[in-house]
Amino acid sequence: MAMDKMKDLSLKETIYRPDLAEVDGVPLTKPMVSIWDQVQKFKARPDDVLISTYAKAGTTWTQEIVDMIQQNGDTEKCKRETTYKRHPFLEWFIAEPPSGRVELANAMPSPRTIKTHLPVQLLPPSFFEQNCKIIYVARNAKDNLVSYYHFHRMNKGLPDPGTWEEFVEKFVTGKVLWGSWYDHVKGWWKAKDNHRILYLFYEDMKENPKQEIQKIAKFLEKDLTQEVLNKIVHSTSFEVMKENPMANYTKDFQGIMDHSISPFMRKGTEVYLLQFKNHFTVAQNEKFDEDYKKKMSDTSLVFRTEI
Ligand code: PPS
Repeated sequence: MAMDKMKDLSLKETIYRPDLAEVDGVPLTKPMVSIWDQVQKFKARPDDVLISTYAKAGTTWTQEIVDMIQQNGDTEKCKRETTYKRHPFLEWFIAEPPSGRVELANAMPSPRTIKTHLPVQLLPPSFFEQNCKIIYVARNAKDNLVSYYHFHRMNKGLPDPGTWEEFVEKFVTGKVLWGSWYDHVKGWWKAKDNHRILYLFYEDMKENPKQEIQKIAKFLEKDLTQEVLNKIVHSTSFEVMKENPMANYTKDFQGIMDHSISPFMRKGTEVYLLQFKNHFTVAQNEKFDEDYKKKMSDTSLVFRTEI
């Protein structure tokens, strides 16, 4: 869709959106900062599985895969609740209506699967102290940025994205919720050398879901039959998840997420080249690439930009 048309669809300014504040230089929403003490003191349990990502990198997809593995491919069991209620979103908080996820996690019996978008340096220390299994998923910067922009447009629980140009600037300078994408993917990449972290890429999952699901199953020490594996590949495909109300966010955040502006399950299948052609101007793309090279020059982490 042309960028000028997208602007016409943006949310009305009369609707309350949270401001950002900072925790150790990382922007979080003010309501999230108000419960920060509780988040930092969170008591992880040794059998917790943590799914960690920069926002819009494939969290929900990975959550569905993990749950399907844990339920041995039983789709009905995975539909017991929505993604948001099955897996507490550790640091998420909106004041009205109050939505503490820490309480949900504390009340949940083990084994728990927990979601976070926190950069590694802000992770509650108990996860590493308890040697929890952590699955980190990273997505290439441009697709991640495009997805994040559209998510801000449809989700009133997030700050106003401003124009596309303004949002690109905020993303590149790390002035968005959960901070710098660059620091996030690099920080977790480094942490995997010292902790029990399975580091995955959205692009690999897209290209060869069966292989990546097998990696996750092995990490979780679960043996899957070929039949169950095939069932998981099918049930966690973009097309099936898009139609699954327990995984597509149409049942939670009603009045906060507006799927008519941009659905949660937006494109998923769009590859990098198409995404950036629809969004970046040539000049914007060149500037982005130049800055990217600088910011990523101090890591061995490499992203694929085509599938
Ligand atoms: S969130 O809000 O941070 O938890 O969002 P997250 O789940 O990380 O990311 C949403 C994007 O992931 C895409 N998605 C998928 N892609 C491929 N296959 C499957 N099964 C799948 N499920 C979700 C979703 O469409 C969002 O990406 P975009 O590019 O916006 O479509």
